[in-house]
Amino acid sequence: MKKVKNILIFVSGNGSNMSNLIEHFDSNPEVSVEAVFSNKPACVGIINAQKAGINTIAFTPEELHSGRVAELAQLLNPDLIVLAGFLLKIPKEFTATFEGKILNVHPSLLPKFGGKGMYGKHVHKAVIAAGETKSGITFHFVNEHYDEGNIIAQFECPIAPTEKVETLQQKIQQLEHTHFPSVVEKLLAQ
Ligand code: GAR
Repeated sequence: MKKVKNILIFVSGNGSNMSNLIEHFDSNPEVSVEAVFSNKPACVGIINAQKAGINTIAFTPEELHSGRVAELAQLLNPDLIVLAGFLLKIPKEFTATFEGKILNVHPSLLPKFGGKGMYGKHVHKAVIAAGETKSGITFHFVNEHYDEGNIIAQFECPIAPTEKVETLQQKIQQLEHTHFPSVVEKLLAQ
């Protein structure tokens, strides 16, 4: 019998990527979404995870920094920790505990438009303001620096001359929903 692979998903907001991953792996007996962790106990992501019957764990920034969250995560023996719209910086102790096991998706073609304050719509606004003709998404491993871990895969989309933040956000979300499950699967297969 094949070993079941455990994944943990970290969210801070709507969690549309989280919902997409939960739905995708629901029918896969080899991959289990063991829990959804969030620093925002009432965010849409947490509520939807609960509706989907997934164990949820809310925590404070202090618990992330004290090592408590790492302890709780270790108890669940994760093969992969997936950051899907998780907006707090991951502390060094946490990345050291789960080295090579934390995946993030970022809504730009890193190294462009990454770093502190670059999340969600702020990224798309900056990309359009810079006159870029393309944007995209980056899947990367997480280290203690914002958006600087090794890149795993990138996917692009064109930017129209009339592009608005909202339309770019939709394109990016579509790209994420299309590619996230297979990137997770590939990492779990390694
Ligand atoms: C996604 O677009 C993700 O790339 C971005 O937040 C959004 C979350 O959407 N993450 C970052 O900006 C991290 N720096 P979701 O909550 O609907 O999945």
